[in-house]
Amino acid sequence: MTALGLCSRSEAKNLIRKGTVRVNGKTLSDPASSVETEQDTLFFQGSSVDGRLVRHVMLNKPAGILTAARDPKQPTVMELLLPVYASIGCMPVGRLDKDTTGLLILTCDGEMNHRLLSPARHVDKVYEARVTGRLTEREIRAFAEGLDLHEFTAQPALLEIEKAGEDDSLARVTVSEGKFHQVKRMFAATGHEVLTLHRSRFGPLTLDPALSEGDWRELTEKELGALRAAAGM
Ligand code: URA
Repeated sequence: MTALGLCSRSEAKNLIRKGTVRVNGKTLSDPASSVETEQDTLFFQGSSVDGRLVRHVMLNKPAGILTAARDPKQPTVMELLLPVYASIGCMPVGRLDKDTTGLLILTCDGEMNHRLLSPARHVDKVYEARVTGRLTEREIRAFAEGLDLHEFTAQPALLEIEKAGEDDSLARVTVSEGKFHQVKRMFAATGHEVLTLHRSRFGPLTLDPALSEGDWRELTEKELGALRAAAGM
C-alpha cells in the first residue's frame, strides 16, 4: 500500500488494525502482514485497488510542462498523471523540451527505459516541425548527409517537406538520436528557427490521435511488446 502511494507505513498499520484493508476477500488483522499487490486482490477503505507496480504510459505532452520526474518550481509531466505513477517509479523515456508537444512514453521499467535511449539502438523518433523560411532540396540533402553540430556530427536524418512557404515551412523529420535540442539544432545549422515542434512517433509507437494535449493512457499489451522488441528485450 505504501509502494502504491496510498498511505504511509504507519497509516497502513493503523488502517489494518481498524480492519479497513481486505486482501483476497479476508480482512487483514496483522499489521505486519505483507501483500503481493500484483497478485492479491486488495480492498482499501472500501474500494478495490489496482496493485500493479509496473506500468507504462503514453502521454500527449502539452507545451509549457517540463519533462522531469520533479521540479521545485515548474509543473512536470508527472503531475499530469495520477500520483500512483510517481509512487511506483514511472519515469519519462528521454526528454522533450518544455515547448515541444506530443508523444512521451513513461515507464516503471528502468532497464527498458535505459535501452530505448541507448545510442547503439538507433530508435527512430518522428517530429513535425514548423520552421522559419523556405525549406528546399538543400536542407533535405544536408539532413541526409549528417549535419555538423559543433560538438558532434548528427547521424543522417530524413527530412520530408510538407509545405514550403516564403515565411515558414512545415516538415517531418525522422532522427535516430536524442541529443539535447537535437532537431532545433539541426534546423539552426541550416539557417532555420523552429517555431513549433511536435513528436508524433517514438520507435514503433505512434501518438494515439484520441489523446488531446495533456491526456494519457496506459500502453496496450501489443504496444508494450513492440516497445520491448525495439529495446531488444
Ligand atoms: N529535438 C529538439 O530540439 N527538441 C525536442 O524537444 C526534441 C527533439
